[in-house]
Amino acid sequence: MTTSTKDYSKYFQPPSYTDAKKRGKEEIEVHYDFSIPEELREIGKDKHYLIQTYGCQMNEHDTETIKGLLEQMSYRPTEDRKQADIILLNTCAVRENAEDKVFGELGHLKKLKLEKPSLILGVCGCMSQEEGVVNRIMKKHPFVDLIFGTHNIHRLPALLKEAMFSKEMVIEVWSKEGDIIENLPKKREGIKAWVNIMYGCDKFCTYCIVPYTRGKERSRRPDDVIAEVRDLARQGFKEIMLLGQNVNAYGKDFEDIEYRFGDLMDDIRKIDLPRVRFTTSHPRDFDDHLIEVLAKGGNLVEHIHLPVQSGSNAILKRMSRKYTREHYLELVRKIKAAIPDAVLTSDIIVGFPGETDEQFEETISLVKEVGFDMAFTFIYSPREGTPAADMEDDIPYEVKQARLVRLNDTLNVFSKASNERLKGQTLEVLIEGESKNNPNVLAGRTRTNKLVHVEAPKELIGQFVHVHITETPTFYIKGDWVKEPVAEASQA
Ligand code: 5AD
Ligand code: SF4
Repeated sequence: MTTSTKDYSKYFQPPSYTDAKKRGKEEIEVHYDFSIPEELREIGKDKHYLIQTYGCQMNEHDTETIKGLLEQMSYRPTEDRKQADIILLNTCAVRENAEDKVFGELGHLKKLKLEKPSLILGVCGCMSQEEGVVNRIMKKHPFVDLIFGTHNIHRLPALLKEAMFSKEMVIEVWSKEGDIIENLPKKREGIKAWVNIMYGCDKFCTYCIVPYTRGKERSRRPDDVIAEVRDLARQGFKEIMLLGQNVNAYGKDFEDIEYRFGDLMDDIRKIDLPRVRFTTSHPRDFDDHLIEVLAKGGNLVEHIHLPVQSGSNAILKRMSRKYTREHYLELVRKIKAAIPDAVLTSDIIVGFPGETDEQFEETISLVKEVGFDMAFTFIYSPREGTPAADMEDDIPYEVKQARLVRLNDTLNVFSKASNERLKGQTLEVLIEGESKNNPNVLAGRTRTNKLVHVEAPKELIGQFVHVHITETPTFYIKGDWVKEPVAEASQA
């Protein structure tokens, strides 16, 4: 399946919508025997790598795996492009502007490659799973040395060696998802750790490229996830984020056991680790058992990211989201009843093909009804190969932009109001580091993921503190450090 530029077309089969929809139930094998061949373990001695990551937390976490692999091959990290012997762009395909950034970057990197021909330049991540992108790189950026996909990250050591010795571009992109490789090395840093619980997505929302670039849903075995979380707790991580494109579908693919996301959360709840988060949820599979488990609290924080995408039933149907506005609002009602302090955040798309002013207003009214604390908002971006790309993208750009501004203004009113409610309260904050704009101020997060600024000694970085909230601008909250130490046991 590995190929070089000349015979590329023989081997590279791009994911196709029709084939993807025919996804069968073939067994996914789990492999526990990964290791880097002896002869590749010193290949990066005295050499440096640099990885630029775009997109979601899944990509960020893949970058940790890639770093882990490279460091086991003796490469060392650098931030300096001139020092780097290998530069990888770990890309995102979810919207066009993410892709434009990568193509722009490749233009800049060309100069570097000309100055240092031994530099290995690679493209990986979601964009490399798209046929159009790979063709464009081959035609317009032939100086790229290596392209690999999201299903074959574990092949990096062998591919890198091939790229070093080959004059042709080395391309290996598996259109069919691979098996689950359990024991890949991961370079984790800081106090927060990501943990994959599943890969891929079978939802096929009509606007979304992810089911093609990330393949079908495959859940990691519960024992493997729990062992990894226990190990992270032992290493002293303070917070973990469980990752999946649609975590609520966790376990649907198990044929031998009846074990779903609620069961997993209930087991992880018992691990001695201060905070556990998860992302991202799909309203369709969010079941009552999960709500019941989340309501137990403890290390399960009261923040739920629940993408709604639109408040209009007609648009939700055309997006193939498989729930209605009423279903979503009922779910929100159940969550709020069971977890009164729950903070809800969301993803919302404006300007989906055919969205009328009235349908957009239904999104605004849903936002007001739920009172989201925050939402990521996007202008619809057609993705080649998805069903929505065949719908007429009929809304003028200015209208889309005006809708985005109005939506953000509406959301800001609720963010501000929810922040204001915190004034005078004392909150538990995990201090993550110095604030970006002022090194004398520390920045941390509440259980509900709100950004908090506080003046306190730097030794507190990585620890829990109490902060008495005094000021509440829109995008963060500010307060005074309450000096009594926080007992970690109280968070579990
Ligand atoms: N256009 C705009 N936004 C999109 N998203 C996914 N695909 C597209 C697209 N084609 C948004 C959705 C999703 C988030 C990760 O990105 O809101 O939840
Ligand atoms: Fe994309 Fe929908 Fe899957 Fe989310 S649930 S990754 S939006 S297809």
